[in-house]
Amino acid sequence: MITTATIKKMKKEGKTITMLTAYDCAMARMEDEAGIDMILVGDSLGNVILGYESTIPVTMEEMLHHTKAVCRGVSNALVVGDMPFMSYQINEAEGLRNAGRFLKETGCKAVKLEGGASVCHLVEKMVVAGIPVVGHLGLTPQSVNQFGGFKVQGKDVEAAKKIIEDAKKLEAAGAFAIVLECVPAALAEKISQELEIPTIGIGAGNGCDGQVLVCNDMLGMNSGFTPKFVKKYRDLHTEIVGAVKEYISDVQGRKFPAQVHTFKIEEGIIEQLYPTNEKVTR
Ligand code: KIV
Repeated sequence: MITTATIKKMKKEGKTITMLTAYDCAMARMEDEAGIDMILVGDSLGNVILGYESTIPVTMEEMLHHTKAVCRGVSNALVVGDMPFMSYQINEAEGLRNAGRFLKETGCKAVKLEGGASVCHLVEKMVVAGIPVVGHLGLTPQSVNQFGGFKVQGKDVEAAKKIIEDAKKLEAAGAFAIVLECVPAALAEKISQELEIPTIGIGAGNGCDGQVLVCNDMLGMNSGFTPKFVKKYRDLHTEIVGAVKEYISDVQGRKFPAQVHTFKIEEGIIEQLYPTNEKVTR
């Protein structure tokens, strides 16, 4: 069973950390079986699974429901629950209570929240309470309305300095890892070298201590836009649509179910029930 201590040790030993998102038990079970180190129940749940336009509408109850399902499928990976928009921004007491709900109600072992200096005091309180925390810097989707779109962050000196400072503050506050999203690769590499805790990159190049992707993106489950930083390992969208089309055609053409998919009844029983061999009316 992978713990936060394992993750910190992996950085010390120069081992690269693997992380993917999952939102249900079946996907989590497959990722765990494949040997993934960490599973993030991301609030990308909103766009990927629930059909929202962004992560903004995702609620605590939705996150808890899906995190519980993921935890039921995992026996080795470290599961991290993502704190949704407005579950920690109103005040620290509410943030702490909601983080606690993830651990108490779902079985996950850590939470992730977005932001730098502004969330550090809350991170400290969570850590003191025994809640391991993953930070998230760079393009933080819950602030997309402030950023004015999904753009690479930290591209000029001031913006880059802010990310470096935020990363150091999160480490000092007790975060055990930091996700760096859509940050120039050279900047992410420097930050990774400066920190003792691991960085997990998404669109942040190969110099991070680990990588995370949204599972539906890397499996090619969407037919729409794919961000530049995603590598599609499969094209499951085409596979699934193709399979469903075959099924429709088989059912309509009465090719499915075949004998092999069918249950038999002992000879004579149907004749006893329908002695005159009359047709069943539905
Ligand atoms: O919600 C999510 O899936 C995330 C990852 C993109 C890191 O935060």
